[in-house]
Amino acid sequence: MVDLNILDSVVNKTIQALEKSKEEIYHISESARQEYERVKRELLETKEKTAAVINKVDETERQYKQARMYLIHVNNNFNKYCEDEIKDAYQKAHQKQIELLELQKQEKILRLHRDHLERNLKTLENTIKRSEGLITNLSMAMKFITDDLSSLSAHIDEMQQMQALGLSIIKAQEEERKRVAREIHDGPAQSMANIVMRAEFCLKLLEKDPSKVQDELYNLMDLVRQSLKDVRKIIFDLRPMVLDDLGLVPALKRYIEHYAKEYGIFVETSVLGRERRLDSSLEVALFRVVQESLTNIKKHASADQVVIKIEFLRDKVNVLIRDNGCGFDKDKVLSEKQYEGFGLLGMKERIQLLKGNLSIKTAPGKGTEINLSVPTPE
Ligand SMILES: Nc1ncnc2c1ncn2[C@@H]1O[C@H](COP(=O)(O)OP(=O)(O)OP(=O)(O)O)[C@@H](O)[C@H]1O
Ligand SMILES: [Mg+2]
Repeated sequence: MVDLNILDSVVNKTIQALEKSKEEIYHISESARQEYERVKRELLETKEKTAAVINKVDETERQYKQARMYLIHVNNNFNKYCEDEIKDAYQKAHQKQIELLELQKQEKILRLHRDHLERNLKTLENTIKRSEGLITNLSMAMKFITDDLSSLSAHIDEMQQMQALGLSIIKAQEEERKRVAREIHDGPAQSMANIVMRAEFCLKLLEKDPSKVQDELYNLMDLVRQSLKDVRKIIFDLRPMVLDDLGLVPALKRYIEHYAKEYGIFVETSVLGRERRLDSSLEVALFRVVQESLTNIKKHASADQVVIKIEFLRDKVNVLIRDNGCGFDKDKVLSEKQYEGFGLLGMKERIQLLKGNLSIKTAPGKGTEINLSVPTPE
């Protein structure tokens, strides 16, 4: 047998692990998103800075060009300028050159940094997309596990119930055989031994006192009749042949007629809907349920009235058996009763096996009502 608790705990642990992974991935995705925002801001700033530096470079380039032009002019006309002016022109041009070089260096660094940030941003975008995909996949996996495995465990549960039911039916059949063997042993087998003895006695009487043989033969005949009745009853209990020959309703009517006469209990039987032949295992099960209910009424209920209703619907059959007897405490009786043979629990299981359901309504002093419904597949 599969332990469903183990299966459940495996499912729960798997779901917990998946849940944890989902949380972690969610964390990763969250920090990637924050990092993405930060890098985006930095990129914007860097772009602004780069643009400003480029402007400055352009401006400084222009200034440097002017300074050089001026220097060339001074050099070409150096007799017009004094020494300090020439020196100053040199210095200015040199100064602008250094400034320009410095700014160009800055521009290069900023451009590199900008490219680096752009690459970073792409990678982060990818990370976010992939972790979102993972979260969706994990959620799907979790859904599969919860849906499929819980239906699987329901399936296994059902199979195990069926197996247990099968076992209890085998046990019930064995009990039934034991009962039949005992009945034959106590009834017909014993009477037949008796008949043989009586027949031997008749033979002896025939020699000694023939006038008494006639009486003795009558006795013998009674004995044979009684045995025949016993045998017929055993055969009927094993399987009422009218059930196969005529179907459920005639077999029940015959049984009920005999029952009412024998036990003095009034039974009102009604058949609703269009009566029809059912699958033979279904007919036997329904017959046995009514038979067991009537036996219970005779044994336990002290009732004098019984109502039986059989209703044939298009795709199912409903049966009701109600008595006006003493009723009983259902929960107490069913929890105490060690199931053996074909009692209340047996009939419930048998009906469940046929995919039907059976309910018992009763309380001390309130009579007993049994309702059942079984589907009748084509
Ligand atoms: N119609 C009824 N009226 C009153 N009590 C009932 C009725 N049917 C069942 N019971 C009570 O429920 C108990 C269980 O019934 P069930 O048919 O399962 O077992 P049983 O008749 O005692 O034994 P078995 O059917 O195995 O020979 C009975 O012992 C009886 O106390
Ligand atoms: Mg019983």
